[in-house]
Amino acid sequence: MEEFIRPELRKMEGYSPIFPSSPEAIRLDGNENPYGPSPGVREALSKFDLYHIYPDPEQVELREALSAYTGIPAQHIVVGSGSDELIDLTLRLFILPGDEVLSFSPTFGMYSFSTAVCGGKLVKFPRASDFSIDVLEAARYVSPRTRVIFLASPNNPTGNITPPPDILSLLSLGPVVVVDEAYYEFSGTTVAHLVPQYDNLVVLRTFSKWAGLAGLRVGYGIFSLNLATYVMRIKPPYNLNVAAQVAALRSLAEVDILKQRVEMLKEEKERLFDKLSALDFLLPFPSCANFILCQVQGYRARELQKHLAQRGILVRYFDTPELKDYLRISVGLPEHTDLLLRAIKDLPGR
Ligand SMILES: Cc1ncc(COP(=O)(O)O)c(C=O)c1O
Repeated sequence: MEEFIRPELRKMEGYSPIFPSSPEAIRLDGNENPYGPSPGVREALSKFDLYHIYPDPEQVELREALSAYTGIPAQHIVVGSGSDELIDLTLRLFILPGDEVLSFSPTFGMYSFSTAVCGGKLVKFPRASDFSIDVLEAARYVSPRTRVIFLASPNNPTGNITPPPDILSLLSLGPVVVVDEAYYEFSGTTVAHLVPQYDNLVVLRTFSKWAGLAGLRVGYGIFSLNLATYVMRIKPPYNLNVAAQVAALRSLAEVDILKQRVEMLKEEKERLFDKLSALDFLLPFPSCANFILCQVQGYRARELQKHLAQRGILVRYFDTPELKDYLRISVGLPEHTDLLLRAIKDLPGR
């Protein structure tokens, strides 16, 4: 059957995901939420008794609840199986083979993965050494074939936000600008309120980070009314499963508890940042999200990652041309920070 497979997919490498680990491992590699779901989620899931019925394809109840949470009318909102699905759906709406997608590297790997699956061509504009974006220069990377511009803000893995005035400059270029706000609850910076005014602005959000539902897969997109209609039309009808819907609704009913946990994670991030800065071979970058990117200086990041893994602590390691010898460490519980620091101090040759 090989010959029938689309040629560009035959040579495509898959996405490098994080893999399940032993339950004892301290997972600081996936930007997950160590506090887990809000307290009522487990009970809501166990009491729900319609698992044998297909979910609502129109997602009415959850879209209404999200409207109350975001302040944006429900007709602008489409829910997906993680924001990953909305990245894919957005690209499917716009990309013909050979069309271009602009992204600002280094950034989240799903933009290049989903662009490749759609047969599009990813154009990477390099971020500056502090990971900011020179939007005037970036405009030169937009061609007549550019259909979509992806911008994560805060960006994964660098943690910095792109200021809203720069996003307005990108919007003026014409193609659809997808602002991925997966870490919005940590940064507090959003452009979601601008969606009703800008036809080409899409904002993506997720329940994976602030609400601790990464395993249940709930994300949503905020689109112009016109685009939302198209995305609703092309999405698989039952894309949000009922368990995910129940959990998301309960999370939105317990926002205060979840927000308190976000505050605790933000405080822990500050403590982790200070401790990492004090080490002479690590250069941590300020982050508006729930992780910290560190440059490893005078030591191989891969060796440090292996050393930590042997002690049951998982962190993400990068060794690309843009990020050579970098680690990304998700913010965990205070005891995770303590164990991480102890393990770093045991590093041979230090
Ligand atoms: C920038 C960004 N967007 C989207 C996602 C994926 O979110 P979800 O779990 O909702 O698919 C992530 C996850 O790491 C991310 O960092």
